[in-house]
Amino acid sequence: MQLQDILYSQGFGPRRLCTGLLQNGLVAVNGETVTDPAADFEPDGLRFSVEGKSWEYHAKAYLVLHKPGGYECSQKPSAWPSIYTLLPAPLRQRPVKGGQPGVQAIGRLDQDTTGMLLLSDDGAFIHRMSSPRHHVPKVYEVGTADPVDAKQVARLLAGVVLDDDPRPVQAAACEATGEHGLRLTLTEGKYHQVKRMLAAVGNRVVTLHRSRMGSLALPDDQAPGQWRWLTPEQLVAVADRGQ
Ligand code: URA
Repeated sequence: MQLQDILYSQGFGPRRLCTGLLQNGLVAVNGETVTDPAADFEPDGLRFSVEGKSWEYHAKAYLVLHKPGGYECSQKPSAWPSIYTLLPAPLRQRPVKGGQPGVQAIGRLDQDTTGMLLLSDDGAFIHRMSSPRHHVPKVYEVGTADPVDAKQVARLLAGVVLDDDPRPVQAAACEATGEHGLRLTLTEGKYHQVKRMLAAVGNRVVTLHRSRMGSLALPDDQAPGQWRWLTPEQLVAVADRGQ
């Protein structure tokens, strides 16, 4: 694949800009500056640098972001900064055939929720992971305003009715983690689901953190605001329905 096409596919801007980056000596492969836009490289596993910043070729982008509090998951946030501002420009610009450029968040977390958020530019993967039929378990660490009791845990497991749907929603797993703490596993993703479930049992969420999706935990050493590429093994693990 020509290097100018590699740069374009990775989101380094329109083709003429990618050509210009190369012609201006701003791109290096294996530490050597490459100025020929048509220079041919095997893209898989290619590492290169643009204006001194190193980059890794990925045919499709699959990322995990540790969402910090105080960020909205929307591209056009209303009151808080967008999570997309936490990503480097190439990830926001990657060309997507027939779609909006750049990676998209898979589902949303509330502005004040922290934790694991996936992003991708693979439409089929986004669709599969967002489908209500794809019951990937998601684990939430919940801090509550009032003490948690056994009755609340039992009701969350048995199912509670939310205001917009007569069918009860139930936690796939639920355990108290302290006087004011719960670990709740959900396999669906309704709007404000954890907050509304807690309200339905007479408590209130004060802190909410998503710690796990499928069989993948958010790594302890991934700080709030940091993003990482998912490895192929992690990609399989996040989609794991545990069956
Ligand atoms: N449930 C909520 O109430 N909020 C979130 O951000 C995620 C799940």
